[in-house]
Amino acid sequence: MSNISAIRSRPRSQEWFQRARQSLIEGVNSPSRGAAVYSPQPIVLERGRGARVWDVDGNEYIDFMMSFGASIQGHAHPRIVEVVSQSIAEGSHFAAATPAETEAAERFRRMVPTAEAVRFANTGSEAGMLALRLARAYTGRTKFLKFEGHYHGWYDPYCLSAHSHPADQLGPLEKPNQIPDSEGIPSAVFDEVVLAPWNDVPVLEGILRRHGRDLAAVITEPIMANMGCIPPREGYLQKVYDLAHEYGALFILDEVVTGFRYAPGGCQQYYGLKADLSTFGKALGAGFPVGAVAGPRAILDRLRWGDRMVLHYGTFNGHRLTMKVVAANLDLLSAEGTYPRLHATGDAAVAGLRDVFRRRKLKAIVQGFGPMFQIYFAERDAIHDYRDYCRYVNAPLYSRFVHRLLDHGIYMTPSNSLHWIISTAHVGQDVEALLRAADRVCRELA
Ligand SMILES: Cc1ncc(COP(=O)(O)O)c(C=O)c1O
Repeated sequence: MSNISAIRSRPRSQEWFQRARQSLIEGVNSPSRGAAVYSPQPIVLERGRGARVWDVDGNEYIDFMMSFGASIQGHAHPRIVEVVSQSIAEGSHFAAATPAETEAAERFRRMVPTAEAVRFANTGSEAGMLALRLARAYTGRTKFLKFEGHYHGWYDPYCLSAHSHPADQLGPLEKPNQIPDSEGIPSAVFDEVVLAPWNDVPVLEGILRRHGRDLAAVITEPIMANMGCIPPREGYLQKVYDLAHEYGALFILDEVVTGFRYAPGGCQQYYGLKADLSTFGKALGAGFPVGAVAGPRAILDRLRWGDRMVLHYGTFNGHRLTMKVVAANLDLLSAEGTYPRLHATGDAAVAGLRDVFRRRKLKAIVQGFGPMFQIYFAERDAIHDYRDYCRYVNAPLYSRFVHRLLDHGIYMTPSNSLHWIISTAHVGQDVEALLRAADRVCRELA
């Protein structure tokens, strides 16, 4: 059925990579795909179908990265292929009102409990930009609170302490050091940002006592997905919501990773939360670029044209072809049994991996559940926050582990701060193949 245990070399990937580097920085269009993570054995992918991808050398892999979670239906899902083929022949985009965007929005509202209205954009980053602008306009305040280790896209004010750093650089819990993720951002931008550690209610209470009245919003990922996969402590998210409201700030839930993944209505439904605004992307588009902000009319109506409007333009907003894909994707995800299946497949992978590490006596944590999880090599029982990650996680060992898995036909990013993704295309046999490969790699590493 496949040659997944026989991947030895990737000469054509190497050639393409060298060629790409002549025109593209590090041979790619995002540093998360670049030499930094795949060096010294670049992989250039050519095609995908279902849960599998093939590189330019013809090597086959089972894909557990799934376009950083965007390809929730796997690759080239027949229904998505059909919709795209039909729709493109009618014109991909008009930048005008279309039935397609209404049909997508209606399905979105049926699935996401807090969505009285939705505004579509093109990426999760754009959705994050818009949510913050709306919150600032609505509250009349400019500062906002973000958590260490959370990533909300590459908009200037969010680019703070979202990469890992040596633990001794992080500063006191009550006043974490602000570590910019990028050059080129005026430092004044970060004067508007209050930084806090995540998953720690008493520390957050203290920080809010000092800054709460200045805040337009508190923004959080529901499951911390950019330091691997770190679930919230019991009741934590509700407490953040309550505290934000106590100080008159909006609660923005960044569901770009978790939306349409954990439940039809994302983590807000899974955990029974009410968000004032929530942002979406990734799985919403089933591999097509899309972002969205959802919330109550009282806030989203600020987008209406007029004197005190909140500006949000975009030639490609509500892109017709993408909206067709979104509607078809949401129909597929709404089918009976989809989410129980996603959870069962992911839970089997998590349990199986734990078993492999236990048998092979490798100290590893497999954290997360259902459709998303991560492996940490660490002398701990759990990773609860960014600081745990910076302090305890052996990311170089993880990178070695994944590079060996790649040689055994399992496709994943070697970056420990990302996460394993289960799509609707994964089946039990894919999990079994993963466990066999993991077992072999553990033996090689021992
Ligand atoms: C939680 C979260 N928010 C926002 C974004 C930004 O989304 P995009 O890459 O589509 O701009 C990401 C991307 O990884 C993310 O993980």
